[in-house]
Amino acid sequence: MIETIVDAGSKAQTAEALDPFINIEEEIDRLRREKNAVILAHYYQPPEIQDIADFIGDSLDLSRKAAETDADMIAFCGVKFMAECAKILSPEKTVVLPDRDAGCSLEDSCKPDDFRKFREKFPDHMALSYVNCSAEVKALSDIIVTSSNAQSIIEQLPANQKIIFGPDRHLGAYLAKETGREMEIWPGTCIVHEQFSERELVKLMVRHPEAALAAHPECPESILKHADLVGSTRAILDFVTTAPGKEFIIATEQQIIHQMELAAPDRTFMAAPGADGTCNCANCPYMALNDMEKLYLAMLNEAPRIEMPEDLRVAALAPLQKMLDLSPASPAKKSVAA
Ligand code: 13P
Ligand code: SF4
Repeated sequence: MIETIVDAGSKAQTAEALDPFINIEEEIDRLRREKNAVILAHYYQPPEIQDIADFIGDSLDLSRKAAETDADMIAFCGVKFMAECAKILSPEKTVVLPDRDAGCSLEDSCKPDDFRKFREKFPDHMALSYVNCSAEVKALSDIIVTSSNAQSIIEQLPANQKIIFGPDRHLGAYLAKETGREMEIWPGTCIVHEQFSERELVKLMVRHPEAALAAHPECPESILKHADLVGSTRAILDFVTTAPGKEFIIATEQQIIHQMELAAPDRTFMAAPGADGTCNCANCPYMALNDMEKLYLAMLNEAPRIEMPEDLRVAALAPLQKMLDLSPASPAKKSVAA
């Protein structure tokens, strides 16, 4: 695997040496101005990071924002594959990630050498890869997709085009069902969405018969079959804040509920349960690694920072750019938190 994270050097400021009396929000603001930085955050980030971000969005929104910003630094509050996308699309910018270990179980499930062999088994197939994969896997793919554009991109391909899809098997199965296409699917899963329990969900739905269920397509079919809306994080947010009704069950990472409560304080949002009947499983441990101190230090030290060989970047850019070219225009944004 090619390492794409550059760590802070030995002279860098560390968390242990940080003055506990500093006001971390004000310091992040100061660095944002001094370094002409933009803070991009995914909906799964801790609320205090969402609150300080310049822009919040789903994977597609964040890629678009990274491609078009004129900031010198992108402080990417999300996971590594997202920050890599920002660097691939905006190579001249400094892209920092608060915690170098903020990864993704889907990316981990799909090592580039194994993916290359998988591809080679299906030489007449087009490789569509979910954005939750490494830059190296992107470079081996024909088109990148996110949960918000995958169906529309598949529907733009010729009907007889054979497809391999990775690394999320639940999203792959959902897309195969919705589009009627046969696909060879990589068997990866998201450790968060994989844990929702159909049995506990049904119990919750029985207790709240008026509640609508919004689910991310990384969930298994056993959860998706009960959903009133299946979509990306932004689609879920749009649905639960605008659809009729007052109660909603959310089958995705629960930090997104922060934006829901800000946008629709008169509505009730319940996190979907796991097998123990609680919503403890609905937290992404990778997203949770980022915090305000690490964000401040990353901006100050300009590390952990994404860097990659130019040939890898160019190879990964082609399928990512194809995705942007084939994506439907984005609906009006409302999610600027600052
Ligand atoms: P979206 O925000 O694109 O729906 O992706 C969800 C996700 O799991 C990100 O890791
Ligand atoms: Fe990866 Fe799942 Fe976490 Fe998203 S929620 S970053 S898919 S592990």
